[in-house]
Amino acid sequence: MIDVEYGFYTYYRRYTLYLTWLLCEITNVKLLRRRLILNFVYDKLKNSSRQPVWTVMWSRCEEQNFGKEAVSSMGSLDGKAAIVTGGATGIGRAVALGLAREGADVAIFDIRDAADTVKEVKSSGRRGEALKVDVTKKGEVVASVDRVASDFGRLDILVNNAGIYPASPFLETSEEEMDTVFAVNLKGPFLCTQAALKHMVSRQYGRIINVSSAQALIGFAIQAHYTATKGGIAAVTRALAAEFGPLGITVNAITPGLTTTETVVNYFPSELLATIEKRMALNRLGVAEDYAGIVAFLASDAASYITGAVIPVDGGMATCFAMAPEA
Ligand SMILES: NC(=O)c1ccc[n+]([C@@H]2O[C@H](COP(=O)([O-])OP(=O)(O)OC[C@H]3O[C@@H](n4cnc5c(N)ncnc54)[C@H](O)[C@@H]3O)[C@@H](O)[C@H]2O)c1
Repeated sequence: MIDVEYGFYTYYRRYTLYLTWLLCEITNVKLLRRRLILNFVYDKLKNSSRQPVWTVMWSRCEEQNFGKEAVSSMGSLDGKAAIVTGGATGIGRAVALGLAREGADVAIFDIRDAADTVKEVKSSGRRGEALKVDVTKKGEVVASVDRVASDFGRLDILVNNAGIYPASPFLETSEEEMDTVFAVNLKGPFLCTQAALKHMVSRQYGRIINVSSAQALIGFAIQAHYTATKGGIAAVTRALAAEFGPLGITVNAITPGLTTTETVVNYFPSELLATIEKRMALNRLGVAEDYAGIVAFLASDAASYITGAVIPVDGGMATCFAMAPEA
């Protein structure tokens, strides 16, 4: 006997995804955008009640190679709760969406309005909160961390991403600018981590991921203050890993290379970006989405034996002297 309803759902789902892929092909949608679109459709279809049908369809998609790079949802963070600082834009936003895609509820701490990021977190079926928090203000940080832990019922993941990176020649760097850079990039992660650890230590579980910089590993002119903070946070990562590892909490860092976030594109001279791009081993500057996967991985149980690691995620910027072979 033919199961009419079963047949309907099979074709509905198969062709919804196929049509999405086809539209992306026809309109030549870039890979990153395609990943977001396919993720969205994937989530919608996955949440339907006919899981076996979906599974069959998904393996067909994989055979045709249009799911492979575009969708990487493993659901590895299902039921986890995360805070991402500086998630209104740039790398923090991409990281927040990556955590949500993997199943985490995500709160954003930012001095800017993060409603847009939170809207996208919610559209992937997770809980999201945008809190106006200046990470340099202890009172705001502690109250907000406590509120998130209470609203989400737990706190598993903290991503210390908020940061500023002004450039000025060393001899002309004002005391005020030094203080501000140290406050946002170093004191901020200290305060957020202290507040978050209170909730993690009691449960003997936690994942802290610090966003350092390739500049923690290489010298870079006219940003000595920034470099000091990013080298500092890499060192703090190892110190805290040693102190809190015995309590079931891992602490790791990533060191992004130069990444074309809005702030970088607006404030860095385009000639400088082009010069640096030429000497990147992977022949391109980073995009914010390059960091979503590694952060989600470090936050997951798959990374439970990794702590104190400072991982270069920089297209080879800090580790390679790139020379393109002669054409
Ligand atoms: N973009 C790069 O090339 C690059 C390279 C290496 C490392 N990083 C690091 O990655 C992180 C994010 O960089 P990005 O390029 O996405 O920056 P961005 O300017 O796009 O985003 C930074 C976010 O942090 C927020 N923020 C700033 N001060 C804050 C404060 N006091 N309290 C709360 N939020 C605050 C901003 O409002 C903004 O939303 C930074 O720590 C940066 O140092 C960036």
